[in-house]
Amino acid sequence: MAHFDDKAFPFSHKWLNERLAIDTLKRVLSTEYWIPKNINFLWAMGMVLAATFGLLLISGIFLLMYYIPDVHKAFDSVNYTIMQEVGFGWFWRHVHAVAASVVFLIIYIHMLTGIYYGSYKRGRELIWISGMLLFVTFSAEAFSGYMLPWGQMSYWAGMVITNLFSMGSLELNGLVEWIRGDYVPGQAFLGRFFMLHVLLIPLAIIGLIVLHFGTLRIPHVNNQDGEEIDFEKEAALWKAGKRKESKVIPFNPVFLSKDVFVMAIYFIIFFYLVFYNFEFAMDPVNMDPADPLKTPPHIYPEWYFLWSYEILRPFSKDIGLIAFGIAQVALFFMPFIDRSPVVAPAHKRGLFFWWFWALVIDMIVLTAMGKLPPQGIYTYIGTVAAIVFLLLGPALVVITLMEKKQQGGK
Ligand code: HEM
Repeated sequence: MAHFDDKAFPFSHKWLNERLAIDTLKRVLSTEYWIPKNINFLWAMGMVLAATFGLLLISGIFLLMYYIPDVHKAFDSVNYTIMQEVGFGWFWRHVHAVAASVVFLIIYIHMLTGIYYGSYKRGRELIWISGMLLFVTFSAEAFSGYMLPWGQMSYWAGMVITNLFSMGSLELNGLVEWIRGDYVPGQAFLGRFFMLHVLLIPLAIIGLIVLHFGTLRIPHVNNQDGEEIDFEKEAALWKAGKRKESKVIPFNPVFLSKDVFVMAIYFIIFFYLVFYNFEFAMDPVNMDPADPLKTPPHIYPEWYFLWSYEILRPFSKDIGLIAFGIAQVALFFMPFIDRSPVVAPAHKRGLFFWWFWALVIDMIVLTAMGKLPPQGIYTYIGTVAAIVFLLLGPALVVITLMEKKQQGGK
């Protein structure tokens, strides 16, 4: 039975520990949460992401104090009240816009690191799946946020993306209207996307981050060589003072200090962007208020959605939608498409190395083509890049089956 010391000072360490087991929590989650020594700065990206999400929350709360979710007032509340009238309103808006863009760059680096080192295998499947769920919820968060300033791109991108729910020839127009709450984006649309952006999706993200961290606890993070580490044995070495011999370090304070170092460099670059180069995160077309009677000549999403938008665009309506659907879910199945039992960095996996770089280059080409107008040579390059993306899935199955066979043959 638990023992409570009546003489312990209320809210002292002892008093709290008896009620909340804070020492045990600290041990399990930080001082005895073991991290392999053999990792590089790319393993700090997870914490960089968590910190950027923190910045999005804080800046979002400040913006929320003055933003008005009304189709007649939203544009001015952002572009006039927040940007010009409220002290430091511009600062919080720049932080929010830059963080929303940069977070996707870091997510892509974090995902590609996982793919390069095979960090979705050997007990780490749920880390990957919870990570993909985070990717989807972050995408929904970015899209719903983009609607809020109610500029030209908010309105027309909202129109184009919600139109996708008509599912091509199925013509599910009722579904599109149900999502919009109207025939076209209007007050109901803005109201529900506002609720999603400031409440429901952030809550889902917080829950998923907790889940993502939870899925990391038992398999531990992977390392640069994909080595299978006996964490208990190595931790015992560390605790016995044989720190040089041990292959692991505790998360707190040793690894955390490295994370903080990488974060410090990241934040220098981040705030440089916020103060001197924020324009990249703000589309000039969205500086015009939404006008349902004036379609912009070229409607495109933010850069982080361009690769998947370009998979949709070159094909006819139905095929484009199917290709787009496949591209959205394919990465979820990474742990199951990669049939090889080998956990190693891509440069030690022969054909997989070339597959990895084909994926990276293809995503960059798709992104570039998605930004350009669908004319002439761009259409051809975009179509080829989209087909290559779709073929990369079956190619991975074949490559990794061959690798599996080679392993079996040894
Ligand atoms: C957006 C919010 C996210 C946060 C806050 C986050 C946070 C973290 C943290 C702190 C780690 C441990 C340290 C590290 O390896 O960086 C980690 C590991 C990992 N994350 Fe994420 N992550 C996020 C999104 C994602 C996404 C989108 C994916 C990909 C689908 C993903 C896949 C992984 C994998 C596979 C690992 C294990 C790495 C290893 O074992 O080496 N995460 N994440």
